[in-house]
Amino acid sequence: MSWYRPHLETSLRLIEESQPDRDGRIIDVGGGESTLVDDLLSAGYSHVEVLDLSPTALQFSQRRVGELAARVGWHCGDVTRYPFEPSSFDLWHDRAVFHFLTSSEERAAYVQQVAHSVKPGGHVIVATFGPEGPTRCSGLPVERYSAEGLHDQFGPQFEPVRHLVETHRTPAGAEQQFLYCLCKVSAAERRA
Ligand SMILES: C[S@@+](CC[C@H](N)C(=O)[O-])C[C@H]1O[C@@H](n2cnc3c(N)ncnc32)[C@H](O)[C@@H]1O
Repeated sequence: MSWYRPHLETSLRLIEESQPDRDGRIIDVGGGESTLVDDLLSAGYSHVEVLDLSPTALQFSQRRVGELAARVGWHCGDVTRYPFEPSSFDLWHDRAVFHFLTSSEERAAYVQQVAHSVKPGGHVIVATFGPEGPTRCSGLPVERYSAEGLHDQFGPQFEPVRHLVETHRTPAGAEQQFLYCLCKVSAAERRA
């Protein structure tokens, strides 16, 4: 679990900056065992959802969250295929999932899912390995991105707001470069 950190401080800061309204609907895709859901609940967010491919990771988080887990929407499935409702989220968060998508078909399906399920004017936060980040994670190949390269994957209907680079120290003490991009879904474009 090289990606693990006790709290996703940068994610939380970008979420609070772009989605100050605590009633907004937020989804953390590939949330895994991360404590972001706990921290969002503590910060007063009332519509938090977590999606992950792994039922084990979801159960781990549900147990950790405890009684408050009943207030969270939990979804088990593949983010590239999950039947999200159209224009349903105010904010989409992904830390360390998109970079596992190594085929252009998977990436296009992911972007289509974001375009379909995030409301016009909503925000998208995607954190991947940066240009100097690792080339593999958990034994799997990953893609590394610059801000421009990541934005190219998403296209013009996603308006860049800002990006930042973070050095993550893994639980084993190694350093990994992460790139965080925050963008806004264009309210003008007609979307899927
Ligand atoms: C590297 S971990 C990151 C976990 C968490 N976001 C964090 O930053 O600590 C990636 C997570 O994404 C999940 N995942 C990988 N591919 C996925 C997919 N196609 N759809 C949904 N979840 C996926 C994995 O099960 C795992 O929990």
